[in-house]
Amino acid sequence: MFAAAKEELAVPYRLGIIGAGNVADCHAQGAAAAGVEVAAVYDVDKQRAEAMAQRFDGCRACASLEQLLAMDDLPAVVAAVPNDLHKDTAIAVLRAGKDLLLEKPMAMTVAECDQIIAARDEAGRALQMGFVSRGAPVAVAVQRFIAEGRLGRIHHAKATMYRRRGIPGLGRWFTTRSRAGGGCLVDIGVHLLDLIIHLTGNPRPDRVSASCASAFGPRMEDYVYTEMWAGPPNFQGVFDVEDSANGLVRFDDGMTLDLSVAWAVNIKEQVLPDGYVLLGDRGGCVFDLWTNRLSIYTEQDGHQVDISPVIPTEDPWAAAWRAEHELFARIVTQGEAPSATGEQGRVIQQIVQSMYESDRAGQEVSIQA
Ligand SMILES: NC(=O)c1ccc[n+]([C@@H]2O[C@H](COP(=O)([O-])OP(=O)(O)OC[C@H]3O[C@@H](n4cnc5c(N)ncnc54)[C@H](O)[C@@H]3O)[C@@H](O)[C@H]2O)c1
Repeated sequence: MFAAAKEELAVPYRLGIIGAGNVADCHAQGAAAAGVEVAAVYDVDKQRAEAMAQRFDGCRACASLEQLLAMDDLPAVVAAVPNDLHKDTAIAVLRAGKDLLLEKPMAMTVAECDQIIAARDEAGRALQMGFVSRGAPVAVAVQRFIAEGRLGRIHHAKATMYRRRGIPGLGRWFTTRSRAGGGCLVDIGVHLLDLIIHLTGNPRPDRVSASCASAFGPRMEDYVYTEMWAGPPNFQGVFDVEDSANGLVRFDDGMTLDLSVAWAVNIKEQVLPDGYVLLGDRGGCVFDLWTNRLSIYTEQDGHQVDISPVIPTEDPWAAAWRAEHELFARIVTQGEAPSATGEQGRVIQQIVQSMYESDRAGQEVSIQA
């Protein structure tokens, strides 16, 4: 049973959650750790909502979305539903006069992102995107090194996440293009794209060349795995999305980003280490959010110098969710401006769509503004 530590509440408020699946639990635990009361949950699957309500003190399982949105003492909501429901759910939440923390990807298309942004502006409510990687302790440390000018001008970035076997919900909504909008690029690629763009000061993406593959989709029944997010698998279901994607994004300030993501590949984990590389004219850095690995390579007093900051966090995943909810709590209760904005979510959607377009065309494409 998770109860908000009420005596520590800096910013107490009551939060609702729509969708009581796997990521909803990360939100609820992060919110509780941040001192926020998880007060209501709605899921189309009643049992899931009830099970979640039982895990959190004082949490009500709502019978309908309307019932949750009608709760006057609920100023803000997390939307953690499958991707094809993001647009309608987001618009309903904003029109109900509530602030919204919206899971990634923002929506299925750029046009849907525009509809969400318009609803936000009409309602005058806050919209924060759920780019949880930004709050990982290593990401925060890197942001500070960059702000202090330690890397200088960053000309190239590399972001890699290769899972040996990590396809979520095989045969279910995650692997169905009409429900998810894409595969590993939409699921994990968006986090990597967002973090690089966030850390490097939001340069505008200009062109992209990408290739996507589905090596495991065509033979689902042979898939050998040890664990599965959003499982169990449905071998009779659909798998029509990519399970690996590679691309090179060019930005208007000259920076390039080399992105490689895979839900599943036939290579042992960490042969090509997960994580990020930033190359600047004053320094470079290599880091991984979930193992707290961070190295800065620079020059000082006529020497090449390697810096290995100690990041004192045992569980970076839990710390990132807590940080996301501490930030969202300040947005809801203190009127702090959202930092992961709808406009930034839209940029990520533009890149993803352009990567699919480039894959289909077999050549580099421009990213439309
Ligand atoms: N930030 C992250 O690191 C992260 C990680 C995983 C997933 N996600 C995102 O979170 C969202 C949910 O993913 P998940 O892994 O929790 O999936 P999931 O399948 O485990 O959960 C989705 C839940 O939504 C419920 N649902 C379906 N239709 C609904 C409706 N109309 N109204 C209310 N509930 C409905 C389902 O019953 C299910 O419980 C997706 O957008 C995904 O991309 C983010």
